[in-house]
Amino acid sequence: MKALVLAGGAGTRLRPLSYSMPKQLIPIANKPVLQHIVESIRDLGVTEIGIVVGSGNTDLADAMGDGSRYGVAFTWIVQERPLGLAHAVRVAGPYLGDSDFMMYLGDNMLPDGVADMAADFATARPAAQLVVSRVPDPRAFGVAELNDAGRVVRLTEKPEQPRSDLALTGVYFFTPAIHRAVENVTPSARGELEITDAIQLLIDDGHTVRAGRYRGYWKDTGRAEDVLDCNRHLLRSLRSRLAGHIGDGCEISGAVVIEEGARVLRSRITGPVVIGAGTVVEDSHIGPGTCVAADCTLRGVELSDSIVLDGATLSGVSGLYGSVIGRHASVTSGESPERHRLLVGDHTRIEVAA
Ligand code: TTP
Repeated sequence: MKALVLAGGAGTRLRPLSYSMPKQLIPIANKPVLQHIVESIRDLGVTEIGIVVGSGNTDLADAMGDGSRYGVAFTWIVQERPLGLAHAVRVAGPYLGDSDFMMYLGDNMLPDGVADMAADFATARPAAQLVVSRVPDPRAFGVAELNDAGRVVRLTEKPEQPRSDLALTGVYFFTPAIHRAVENVTPSARGELEITDAIQLLIDDGHTVRAGRYRGYWKDTGRAEDVLDCNRHLLRSLRSRLAGHIGDGCEISGAVVIEEGARVLRSRITGPVVIGAGTVVEDSHIGPGTCVAADCTLRGVELSDSIVLDGATLSGVSGLYGSVIGRHASVTSGESPERHRLLVGDHTRIEVAA
């Protein structure tokens, strides 16, 4: 079996971060989303992984390499335009050949793993095996309707009145039967070639499509709120590791990772918190749910429940929470205690205390 990870897409919901980096590289618990996905695929014993990327996107390959450091082999597949998930499968057709494959949306996190569904697929080899999860409000998802025998009889994309509460997660297993189906789909109302339409074609053609229920934590990390939620979730199982320098007078509690080369001085760190390599934290309080990446500088900061990317500078700012700070961004206190001064990029969101 091969794997196909879809990491093209426009990433509009994660602007402005996605303007300068593919969203699949956003770190969650200080590890890129794509790396979490690759490792969970590898843990299923699948080592041939095709990764679909948008045209001109070399950032992912630059960051992830050829897969050897994860014990797998990557093949990078270019999708000229993000015309939909079924289109991505079309583009990957020559790579996939006549192999069975699992497809993983490159922004979906299922940290509890899909080993049961992979085993069911390998045994029964239905044309498609969908990984579904029960959700309280299915209207924002693709929804699967099952018959008594557990076969999928219908898929509906974002239904107004859902007929089941089983949402499609971002993981699918396919036999090569999907290739004909993706050739035959036509653009949906939003102009994309939808994988749900291709799977519906399989069902209509009499192929068996099954669904396996995933009971663990699942998050589509397409929005900043979801990235933070997932970060919070993964940090719950953080184990302490204090490799960096911790100066006198620091107070460290809870699960805390301080990477090598990091320096923490006169500060309180209340875990779960990760402080990345080479980062300096001084006179600050870093609270639960926070990951600071490498080579950042934090001085006189009060920060919790947040993600700070490489090389950012925060200084003299208290009460920061629920924030995602991009690479080399700078958030500082200014000369005036009453007024705010901002240099704001396109589609940036800022909430200041009134
Ligand atoms: P989405 O999150 O549905 O789409 P998107 O990345 O364009 O984001 P947004 O809605 O915020 O604009 O895509 C799910 C995953 O599939 C994501 O990792 C990107 C990938 N993808 C492709 O590889 N090719 C495509 O044509 C599309 C639409 C998505």
